[in-house]
Amino acid sequence: MSSVSNPGCEDRDVTITVCPDGPLLVRGPATLIDADGNAINRERATVALCRCGGTAIPPFCDGTHKKRKSRRS
Ligand code: FES
Repeated sequence: MSSVSNPGCEDRDVTITVCPDGPLLVRGPATLIDADGNAINRERATVALCRCGGTAIPPFCDGTHKKRKSRRS
């Protein structure tokens, strides 16, 4: 993975990494907003957002995608 030089902005950059057959990893100071427009409390610098629809703790990934993938195989 290459890094982008952006002096003075390193702590403010947001990156979103797509995990194959898994969540979106959001790193940085992004604000998460629910469908009603309310901010979602995040307690970690990096959060994993579910994109399989199977999580029990939406919008966060709980690892259920791994079980769903193994059922398809
Ligand atoms: S992507 Fe992990 S539970 Fe949905």
